[in-house]
Amino acid sequence: MGTFIKMEKQKSNIFIERDIRFHIDKYVDLNRRVLILTDDGVPKQYVRVIEEQCPHPYLKVIPQGEGSKSLQSVEEIVLWMAQMGFEKGDLMFAVGGGVVGDLGGFIASIYLQGIQVVSLPTTTLSQIDSSIGGKTAVDLNHIKNNVGSFYQPSNVFIDLNTVATLTKREYYSGLVEALKAGLIRDSKLFDIFWTHITDFNESIPPSDVEEIVIRALNVKRKIVEKDEKEANLRKLLNFGHTLGHAIESIEMPKYYHGECVGLGMLMILENIDLRDKIKQVLEKMGMPTHIDYDIDQVISLIKSDKKYNGSTVTIVQVDEIGKGYFKDVTLEWLRNHLEKNRI
Ligand SMILES: NC(=O)c1ccc[n+]([C@@H]2O[C@H](COP(=O)([O-])OP(=O)(O)OC[C@H]3O[C@@H](n4cnc5c(N)ncnc54)[C@H](O)[C@@H]3O)[C@@H](O)[C@H]2O)c1
Repeated sequence: MGTFIKMEKQKSNIFIERDIRFHIDKYVDLNRRVLILTDDGVPKQYVRVIEEQCPHPYLKVIPQGEGSKSLQSVEEIVLWMAQMGFEKGDLMFAVGGGVVGDLGGFIASIYLQGIQVVSLPTTTLSQIDSSIGGKTAVDLNHIKNNVGSFYQPSNVFIDLNTVATLTKREYYSGLVEALKAGLIRDSKLFDIFWTHITDFNESIPPSDVEEIVIRALNVKRKIVEKDEKEANLRKLLNFGHTLGHAIESIEMPKYYHGECVGLGMLMILENIDLRDKIKQVLEKMGMPTHIDYDIDQVISLIKSDKKYNGSTVTIVQVDEIGKGYFKDVTLEWLRNHLEKNRI
């Protein structure tokens, strides 16, 4: 038996169940044109199992990696959908990680002013975070997620057995978003990391993974239900992201997204004891906890971040586990903080 989470206002159904990928046709009408969007790094077995359930599958495989989250991919795919005769009642089915999910969600939101979108997220990051909440995006040149929309998936199928094929590094880097969720809103979730992640080379027991995913999803669900369009509260989910995105842009493609979020959290924290504690957890997860970076370059990227209003930038800060809060800081404050707190 799996777990079912409903987002009432968003009309999104989230199913968390091992092997649910084999029974998607029980929950969604697949008897129409179904665009199965995936990338060439997603193991074919997950794509095949969806394709086999669709009487009219249309498969689109994009190159793996952040580079595919571009306006060129959007144009290419919508043109192809039009040529294939996709209509308003047809379906977008994203099979893959956050890249496929963000791109697929964005295309679904604009094609014929919106067609239904469902997903089978296959990375820890997409299962814990990016597949729910309806934030869709592509990158504009090198600025991450600068073009996008809010568009809710009707169904998300989280099959924890699909992440078995990830490398350890990908697996743990995705879990950093759950660590973040614990830090901003759920101290029990943080405790699971603190007590159960003993060593990068050992696996976390499956029941703990289950609890990590469900708790992280619930943190996000509660926030999104209160603030779907990121007017205020939803920005809490950006803990570690302002600096993390800057590092990601500078170092791309050296670090994974979750690794950058981990670095971004360490860089912004002011509570030294807490920073040491998080550092220990990240080390046990095999994540990087030290980086040489050029402060000027980071500051100049923050200036083009949508969170910068010309004089201050709103960052998310955590002094006490489970209690994230907003803080408006000037670029001088940030520079000073980074100079004094090199990680
Ligand atoms: N929309 C949101 O709310 C939100 C939130 C967080 C992150 N994101 C976005 O998510 C993206 C990162 O997502 P990601 O970490 O899933 O990366 P990703 O989608 O690039 O996937 C990582 C790699 O794993 C491969 N892969 C996918 N599933 C696999 C599997 N089961 N086994 C083996 N390999 C597999 C992919 O081919 C890819 O090479 C970023 O673009 C980020 O901006 C979006």
